[in-house]
Amino acid sequence: MSVSAEPTPAQPTERPVGNPAEQGSGSASVSAPAPGPASAPAGSAEALRPHAEDAFAAELAALAAQDDRPRPPRWRLSPWAVATYLMGGTLPDGTVITPKYVGPRRIVEVAVTTLATDRALLLLGVPGTAKTWVSEHLAAAVSGDSTLLVQGTAGTPEEAIRYGWNYAQLLAHGPSRDALVPSPVMRAMAAGMTARIEELTRIPADVQDTLITILSEKTLPIPELGQEVQAVRGFSVIATANDRDRGVNDLSSALRRRFNTVVLPLPESADAEVEIVSRRVDQIGRSLDLPAAPEGMDEIRRVVTVFRELREGITSDGRTKVKSPSGTLSTAEAISVVTHGLALAAHFGDGVLRAGDVAAGILGAVVRDPAADRVVWQEYLEAVVRERDGWKDFYRACREVSA
Ligand SMILES: Nc1ncnc2c1ncn2[C@@H]1O[C@H](COP(=O)(O)OP(=O)(O)OP(=O)(O)O)[C@@H](O)[C@H]1O
Ligand SMILES: [Mg+2]
Repeated sequence: MSVSAEPTPAQPTERPVGNPAEQGSGSASVSAPAPGPASAPAGSAEALRPHAEDAFAAELAALAAQDDRPRPPRWRLSPWAVATYLMGGTLPDGTVITPKYVGPRRIVEVAVTTLATDRALLLLGVPGTAKTWVSEHLAAAVSGDSTLLVQGTAGTPEEAIRYGWNYAQLLAHGPSRDALVPSPVMRAMAAGMTARIEELTRIPADVQDTLITILSEKTLPIPELGQEVQAVRGFSVIATANDRDRGVNDLSSALRRRFNTVVLPLPESADAEVEIVSRRVDQIGRSLDLPAAPEGMDEIRRVVTVFRELREGITSDGRTKVKSPSGTLSTAEAISVVTHGLALAAHFGDGVLRAGDVAAGILGAVVRDPAADRVVWQEYLEAVVRERDGWKDFYRACREVSA
């Protein structure tokens, strides 16, 4: 262990901390807006969803204070501390770091190490495997800023990756650095920070190729000005892509070579998936002011079981084959179903999550294609749910919403 027992006091937090971390305190959750001048930076106390670096500011500060391992240039934390931030742990002074990613630690170690080399990181996987989530937390832990983000779509233009122009300025004064509007990638290069590119493979292939020079030469030429922006040490790129979507462009092999690909797997066991869902539901619920649902664990396990069985095409005891519906039924969808169920229970029930609160959500997630998926669902309902011990209430609730 090279983490010193004594916190080093000389670690200034450079970003103003807007809201004290809202997570894991165990006490009452979201408070009314504090009186006094609204000096908090945008995107903090009142944000519907604070950025990772704000939501977990206290954990990041504690890690920075106690981390005495070497840090790559411009990194806020050492690679070891970044991995600890993602996987969770307890620091020598007793500070508890909550796990953000639930899965093999090795995956996170490989991802973090990639960022410390000169290769970019590509997080690949089926929908809902936490690619975006991991990318945000990595950027927050490494650079203290997860907002240098390009959302890839079929319409993403080159300017979104390189730079654009402020046309009023351009027409009035001609091309100049003042008229140039840097992309998040350009800003990350200049500042030695982490840029994020979401859904890389949705970006048209010729636009994707803009990244080749950036990633291999680490420079972004600005021919209009006869200048270039050279990446400063500390610059890196995290891209995400999912391998299931239709209408996805392939990565050119030239670009693929510049990325180290890390595949994020589906949760390996039902227990791991239940843990992910309950952890996230708890966090989301707190940010929505929903009451905690200590008795909701059974329902969460039920949602996860249904999703896993339908996804894998076989019941958890391995006895009965079932058909899989057309949707992906990812962990992310299980999280939405349970969160929605909790809201139903809070607003229209007695606050306790019950079968009836999740049934409609499950039906909506499973039946994407009204004809084919409905048949799959009915078969599953009659052959599996109906026969299972202790699932009568759930069967009834599902029958009610399926009718
Ligand atoms: N292994 C995991 N550990 C922690 N959280 C997880 C895990 N898998 C899924 N999640 C949760 O699932 C939710 C959705 O994840 P996210 O949006 O990052 O998925 P994604 O892989 O980017 O999906 P998409 O391909 O649809 O963009 C997040 O709230 C995340 O916390
Ligand atoms: Mg995503």
